[in-house]
Amino acid sequence: MKPIVVIGFLGTQLDSGKGSGRWEKWRPTLSLTQHPHMAVARMELLYTPRHQALAELLKADIAGVSPETAVNLVPLAIEDPWDFGEVYTRLYDWARAYPFDAGREQYWAHITTGTHVAQICMFLLAESRILPAVLAQTSPPRRQREGDPGSYALIDLDLSRYDAIAQRHAAEQRDAVAFLKRGIATRNARFNALIDEVERVAVRSRAPILLVGPTGAGKSFLARRMFELKKARHQMSGAFVEVNCATLRGDGAASSLFGHRKGAFTGAASERAGLLRSADQGVLFLDEIGELGADEQAMLLMAIEEKRFYPVGADREVTSDFQLIAGTNRDLREAVAAGRFREDLFARINLWTYELPGLAQRPEDLEPNIEHLLAQHAHETRRGVRFNAEARTAYLRFAQGPDAPWRGNFRDLSASITRLATLAEGGRITEPLVQAEIARLRWLWAREDPSARAATTEVDLDALLGAEQAAALDLFDRLQLEAVLRVCRQSRTLSDAGRKLFQASRAARSVVNDADRLRKYLAKHQLSWDRLVA
Ligand SMILES: Nc1ncnc2c1ncn2[C@@H]1O[C@H](COP(=O)(O)OP(=O)(O)O)[C@@H](O)[C@H]1O
Ligand SMILES: [Mg+2]
Repeated sequence: MKPIVVIGFLGTQLDSGKGSGRWEKWRPTLSLTQHPHMAVARMELLYTPRHQALAELLKADIAGVSPETAVNLVPLAIEDPWDFGEVYTRLYDWARAYPFDAGREQYWAHITTGTHVAQICMFLLAESRILPAVLAQTSPPRRQREGDPGSYALIDLDLSRYDAIAQRHAAEQRDAVAFLKRGIATRNARFNALIDEVERVAVRSRAPILLVGPTGAGKSFLARRMFELKKARHQMSGAFVEVNCATLRGDGAASSLFGHRKGAFTGAASERAGLLRSADQGVLFLDEIGELGADEQAMLLMAIEEKRFYPVGADREVTSDFQLIAGTNRDLREAVAAGRFREDLFARINLWTYELPGLAQRPEDLEPNIEHLLAQHAHETRRGVRFNAEARTAYLRFAQGPDAPWRGNFRDLSASITRLATLAEGGRITEPLVQAEIARLRWLWAREDPSARAATTEVDLDALLGAEQAAALDLFDRLQLEAVLRVCRQSRTLSDAGRKLFQASRAARSVVNDADRLRKYLAKHQLSWDRLVA
C-alpha cells in the first residue's frame, strides 16, 4: 500500500484545546493518526497565520501519539475563511505548486475540519483532479473515551469507480443516442458511429458544429434534437433559432441576422433584435450557410469569435452568446476555393463536421425507418396499417435497389409511406398498391438530378468566350447560348446533347444529324465540344 498523506485544514474548534482535558476530547485531525491499522506518513496541516500557536500544539501532540507521522505546517494567507474566492485561490495555488507524486503516495483530503467553504473548495479541487486526492471524513466514537479515534470514511470522486453510477451514465447515454435517432433502431454502422460521436460532442461542447448532407438527410432535425438534449440537461437556457440562409437576400439579410437600430435605413421604423440576439444562450442553426453573402459572413465570424457585433446602423455593439450549428448540402471547401466562402469562417465552423449520409447510402436502415413511419402514421391517424408479405418484399427490394436514389431522403420516404398508408384498404398495403407507388417514385426521380445540374452547369460565358466577345452578345443570343451550353454540360456526348436539343425536329424527321447541327452552332461562337467538357 502506498504511504498515506493527509491534507487538511486545522479545525479551530474541533481540533482546539490546551489543557490536559484536550486528551479526553475527540479531535478529528489528531484522531486520523491514531487508528491502529492505518498509518499516516505525512500530514499537510493548512491553517491561517493567526492560529499558529494551535497548529504548533497539534503538531506536538501528533508527534506524541504517532511519531511516524511527519507534520508539515502550511500557513495560508487567508483573511476570511468564509470567502469562497479567497479560500479557493489560496488552496488552488498551493495545490498547483505541490509536488504530488500519485504513483508513490496516496492523498487524502480531510474535510471534517475547516469551514464549509474550505470543504467545498477541497471538493472542487479533488473533483477536478487538481488535488489528486480522495475525500476523507472522520467521525467521533459513539462514546467518547480517551484514545478512541472514532472512524473514518473515504469518498473517491472518480465516478467511474462506482458500478451503479457508471451504469446510470451508460443508460443515460444510450437514451440520448436513441433520442438523437428518434428512437429508430438503425443498423448502419457508419451512421450509428456518427450519432454516437454527435451525442458526446453535443453534451460536452458549445463549439460550432457543421452538418453536411443532402436535402432531407435530417440536418435540421438533428440540430434541433441536439439543442433539446442540452436543454433537458440544463446546459442551455435560450431558444433554438433556425434560418435558411438561402432565404436571406439583399439588404434585409444583415438586418434579419444582426438586427438594426431604429431609423437605420428607410423602413426601419422600429428597432429589431435580429436572429443572433434571439439565439442568446441557445442555438443558432444556419441552414445552407454557403448561401450567406460576403458581408454577412464577415459579420458572423466576428460575432462567433467575440460574441459581440454591431446591429445595422448602430454605433454600439451588442452581445449574444449562442452555439452555432451550420448546415450545408454542398461542399464548402469548393466554395472556399472559388472565393465564395470565407476561408477563416470555414476554419472556424469546421471543427466538428458531420456528414449525414443519404438514405441510399444506408439501405439497411430503410426497413426500421419504414416501420417507424408506419407507426407514426398509425399514431397520428389512429389507424394501423401493415404491409402484406409480398408487398413488403417488393417495396423493400425496390427501395434498397439501385433504381431508388432517395434523392429527397426522409422527405421522399415519408411521402411514399404516407401515400401507401392512406390508400391502403382495410389497413393492408397490397402488392398492386406497392407497384403503383414504385411507378410514382420512378417518375419522381426520372427528372434530372437538380443538385448534379447545379454543380456542373454553371455557365461562365466570360471565361469561355473572353469578356470582350461575351459583352458583344445580344441578350437574346446570350440567353440562348447559356441554355444550350447548360444542356451540353449535362450530357455525356455531343450526340446525346444534340438529341435533347433537337428532340422536336428529330421526331418530325426534319433534321437527320443533330450532333452536326449542334457542332455548327457551337462553332459559330468559336466553341467546340472538347473545350466545353475540358
Ligand atoms: N434520423 C431521422 N429519422 C427519421 N426521420 C427523420 C430523421 N431526420 C430527419 N427526419 C425527418 O425527415 C424530414 C427531413 O429532415 P430535415 O432535418 O428537415 O432534413 P434537412 O434539414 O437535412 O433537409 C423531417 O420531416 C424530419 O422530421
Ligand atoms: Mg433543413
